Amino acid sequence: MGQIFDKIAAEAAADPQGFWAKAAEDIAWITPPKQVLDDAKPPFYRWFVGGEVNGCYNAVDRHVEAGRGEQNALIYDSPVTDSKRQITYAELQDQVARCAGMLQAHNVGYGDRVIIYMPMVPEAVIGMLACARIGAIHSVVFGGFAAAELAKRIDDAAPKLILTASCGIEPSRLVEYKPLIDEAIDLSVHKPDSVILWQRPQCEASMIAGRDFNWAEEVAKAEPAACVPVKSEDPAYILYTSGTTGMPKGVVRPTGAHIVALKWSMKNIYDCEAGDVYWAASDVGWVVGHSYIVYGPLFEGCTSVIYEGKPVGTPDAGAFWRVISDYKVKAMFTAPTAIRAVKKEDPNGDLIANYDLSHLKYQFLAGERCDPDTLKWCEDKLGVPTIDHWWQTETGWSIAANCMGIEPLPVKAGSPARPIPTCDVRVVDEAGKDVAAGDIGAIVVKLPLPPGSLSTLWNNDERYVDAYMADYPGFYKTGDAGYLDEDGYVYVMSRTDDIINVAGHRLSTGGMEEVLAEHPDVAESAVLGVNDTLKGQVPMGFIVLKSGVSRAGDEIIKELIASVRERIGPVAAFKLAVIVARLPKTRSGKILRGTIQKIANGESYAMPATIDDPAILDEIADALNHIGYPKS
Ligand code: COA
Ligand code: AMP
Repeated sequence: MGQIFDKIAAEAAADPQGFWAKAAEDIAWITPPKQVLDDAKPPFYRWFVGGEVNGCYNAVDRHVEAGRGEQNALIYDSPVTDSKRQITYAELQDQVARCAGMLQAHNVGYGDRVIIYMPMVPEAVIGMLACARIGAIHSVVFGGFAAAELAKRIDDAAPKLILTASCGIEPSRLVEYKPLIDEAIDLSVHKPDSVILWQRPQCEASMIAGRDFNWAEEVAKAEPAACVPVKSEDPAYILYTSGTTGMPKGVVRPTGAHIVALKWSMKNIYDCEAGDVYWAASDVGWVVGHSYIVYGPLFEGCTSVIYEGKPVGTPDAGAFWRVISDYKVKAMFTAPTAIRAVKKEDPNGDLIANYDLSHLKYQFLAGERCDPDTLKWCEDKLGVPTIDHWWQTETGWSIAANCMGIEPLPVKAGSPARPIPTCDVRVVDEAGKDVAAGDIGAIVVKLPLPPGSLSTLWNNDERYVDAYMADYPGFYKTGDAGYLDEDGYVYVMSRTDDIINVAGHRLSTGGMEEVLAEHPDVAESAVLGVNDTLKGQVPMGFIVLKSGVSRAGDEIIKELIASVRERIGPVAAFKLAVIVARLPKTRSGKILRGTIQKIANGESYAMPATIDDPAILDEIADALNHIGYPKS
């Protein structure tokens, strides 16, 4: 097994431009590209230069013209509101065109930014496609982020307009969006001209006259707008992701390459074709949602499921299997954490027997390291190949994946298999030298990255170079550490920076420390990820109080937890903190985070040679014991 994949990967490696030029023939260009790759200004590479294209046309109109107008484009399934809706490609075309007309009526045009802060309702997807239709650049912000995070994105992206809804619905509570929007606009320096709001029946938002508009009313009077040509390298969207500081990175996705790459991935990685039902149980606020709830499946002409619910509790751990069965889902994509949540409630997978999963061919997993138990549980209980694949917001799609549409390779638990064709993945030491197979090092990718990866960071070419390109010249630094085995399989083990992965969500510990530092009683702090059986990791804060602070520690911790929730959002899941007298540091003053993390996780550690005072580690262990860590 592997000969077909080997042959394709070898041919692609020998002629990457030829490989991607051929893939580019599969999308609808307004003007075909004149050059496959412009590599004149590394590390700024541009794919499909000279091409003109429209993302919405490729996602919607193209399929209507090809006779798929009556096929469902979107299926909305919302256990939290007990509602369902199916939207055909023809209906989607009409709704997107009107929404685009509504944006134009509010002076949004080519190159303007639109922030989308929406729950998982079809209007979120319609809003994204409407931006693509008129060449506007959307920036979707996940609903679990707080007003202050939204404000940072408003200031960086400087949107002309915000699309939002009156509320999101979490199983335990209703999340009113409008107060968050109002607060974010108050906090931001840049002020968008208008806010267009989708009123949901669960909650009526109050409106500010002259600035806020009712979506349904505005769209009812809008004229449908046509697809406009955009340049291949024009940004399709900006998606903010956690960096090492509290200021998120605005990943810029170039339009032409993103269409080519995602369309290629649907057939070759996911083995899905027009007419198939594809379901990514994620959120449009994450990259998985952008690429595989919205764009990938629609570029291919599939039916995409929009699920407003959780893996468990809406109403039970059979929710995923119900959706797969109701809509005859062929390929399902979620994060390992969601499967762990299901497994915890239904360890034997008894609920699976209540549903007909005969259409399901593949279970795909990504977003965090897939532990072998979760992989095995899926394989055993679902009886279909369970495919781990590795990617990042920056790349927009897989770096390594077992390509089901090319040739299934043997699955090795703990590995997302091999790099996708033309992606030259290396594992290197600190000097940038390749390490031997099996040895752990930094995972880097030789430039240029395949099409569809970020072209830069919004308004910040310098940070793009510094964050990704400067450490290993000629290579992209993934920020992940791991190894390659003798068969070329990649194993992604951990991050090399201060980013943690909580329930498949990427979070910056530096950002949390910035919030903790603002508390008047806090002298310094360290936040790091400790192991969690459900979420993979959860953040834990180690807090040093200013001398002379006599208030009860519990009270201060409560305030700190509340302020992280208030400033970053509930998604940060910051619920654990301990007060310690001192933090262990190297003699040069660097906090020994890795050592603290090992103590919290109950792992063995070597006494760091550079530690200034080894007794601090005992103090840390004592403080952790008090809150029940390490967990047995
Ligand atoms: N809007 C507002 N709040 C949100 C939110 C949203 N869109 N999404 C999550 N939150 C809140 C949750 O309500 C929770 O709040 P709480 O502290 O009051 O309980 C908090 O943010 C943390 O959410 P989460 O990490 O999702 O934990 P959970 O306990 O609610 O659910 C899982 C746990 C495993 C079921 C859930 O995390 C999950 O389904 N994860 C899959 C993630 C995924 O698909 N990632 C995309 C990559 S493929
Ligand atoms: P995000 O940008 O939010 O998609 O997070 C990307 C990060 O999640 C990666 O850099 C990895 O650290 C982690 N990640 C995503 N998918 C995988 C995977 N399949 N295996 C291991 N880690 C993963």
